Amino acid sequence: MPMNRLPESIYVHAEQYFNTKEKCHDWSHVLRVTKLAKYISEREAADNFLVEICALLHDVGDWKFQEELSTKEIVYPWLREIGLNDDEVEEVISIIIDISFKGAQTETKALPIEGKIVQDADRLDAIGAIGIARAFTYGGHVQRPLYNPSESPKTHKTFEEYKKYQSTTINHFYEKLLLLKDRLHTDTAREIAQERHEYMEAFLKQFYKEWEVV
Ligand code: NI
Repeated sequence: MPMNRLPESIYVHAEQYFNTKEKCHDWSHVLRVTKLAKYISEREAADNFLVEICALLHDVGDWKFQEELSTKEIVYPWLREIGLNDDEVEEVISIIIDISFKGAQTETKALPIEGKIVQDADRLDAIGAIGIARAFTYGGHVQRPLYNPSESPKTHKTFEEYKKYQSTTINHFYEKLLLLKDRLHTDTAREIAQERHEYMEAFLKQFYKEWEVV
């Protein structure tokens, strides 16, 4: 990317867009992911500006938002406004479209290092204490029960199955959150993930213990 500092206008557009989204994919999520992605990028050989742009826009047009416009239709004017040419715009759009998680057993597409870094940052924000908080926030948003002791943990073979299946928030740890630490691309992200993963395991242990008491 031919620039030294990302123009403010892309932050303004992204903030306006994400401020209207549900609270686990809102502007604060985007800012945490962007901060993490920049931290990882500085420790890996990557284009820091491409990483920052892709992090800011990684959730635009996500299937969960059910937008009328496509990702490209939304971000194209923002990217042209900061001076990117058509090839650079295409590069950003193809990365952000390929980043999002598509179910436990589905293939992860080959991403350039910048996309891998943003995907790592996004996955780190889905685990640990923040990950737990976000999981229950999202569970409340789609009216998932906390837990159902008669249901055994499930994972999904296809993205369609993952989207359709309505389970509990505790099951979401098994279908997604506990799998993420082994799906990271960079050593920097793996280091950060270790503590967050252990924290979730401790949380689940305590959760089951308390559930059995009542
Ligand atoms: Ni995200």
